[in-house]
Amino acid sequence: MSERLGIVLAGGAGTRLHPATLATSKQLLPVYDKPMVYYPLTTLMLAGIRRILLISTPVDLPGFRRLLGDGRGWGIEITYAEQPKPDGIAQSLVIAERFLEGRPSALILGDNLFHGEGLSRRLQAASVASGPGATVFAYTVSDPERYGVLEIGADGRPTAIIEKPTAPRSDLAVTGLYFYDSDAPRRARTLKPSARGELEITDLNRTYLADGTLKVETLRRGNAWLDTGTQDSLLDASNFIAAVERRQGLKIGCPEEVAWRQGWIDDAALARLAEPLRKSGYGEYLLRLVGRR
Ligand code: DAU
Repeated sequence: MSERLGIVLAGGAGTRLHPATLATSKQLLPVYDKPMVYYPLTTLMLAGIRRILLISTPVDLPGFRRLLGDGRGWGIEITYAEQPKPDGIAQSLVIAERFLEGRPSALILGDNLFHGEGLSRRLQAASVASGPGATVFAYTVSDPERYGVLEIGADGRPTAIIEKPTAPRSDLAVTGLYFYDSDAPRRARTLKPSARGELEITDLNRTYLADGTLKVETLRRGNAWLDTGTQDSLLDASNFIAAVERRQGLKIGCPEEVAWRQGWIDDAALARLAEPLRKSGYGEYLLRLVGRR
């Protein structure tokens, strides 16, 4: 099977976080001790994905390039593409079409944080799965009306996905992580803008649902899926990461560590990455890992 490539969508105007996002991208804001985009990026890395396209606005791309570079230091390859206007999440697949060159993909939203026991094993299993179709990850939430909502039939198969329903018929939200077969860019090109003028990811997923090739992986309560859409949820996400990291002495969403644990970089490379980061404590953390694998 051909290698699955990653897409991080980190555009948008971040209007719900103004004025914090007036001069910077939302996905560059910190979630506790690191930039938000580190978390979705490491989620892809945990799935074993090493070639990643980051999509953002023309104004914000330079910030991402400055932060992430070409990814080589982390044993991955990061390239960049512009989304001139926030015309919808599904547009990312159209933008990524040339990058993908007919390969399957994993799309993650740059503001989605995932954490949980066994998650990387499940992501790897979903990532190596070949054949036609798409996989979405569902999570039980208390406020489903804010998300794409999945309805599941008696046989456990998905029957409907509704974007931000006013009266949700289930509490299962579709999270911002999607695995697609090689046909997704072509399908995305056929979509029509919704009432809010966007190419909706829910509409793309519906095409797979209609074909009977939409798979749903449910993330149960031992997993965390965190939202960073508002000031309060951003603060909650920071507090969650801080609580777990301080308790365990282990970091969540640390790309240097994931690259090293995946065996993509060695001890010496990890130590080199750590050196310039020592003053913040982040570098000290990386140095403590060296030799402990
Ligand atoms: O977070 C999961 C949810 O994401 C799903 O449950 C929904 O089905 C899906 O539509 C989406 O809902 P949101 O209302 O959260 O989407 P939002 O417009 O806020 O965009 C999510 C992120 O993607 C945000 O950080 C900005 C970025 N984005 C969004 C659009 C529409 C882009 O980079 N470009 C875009 O064109």
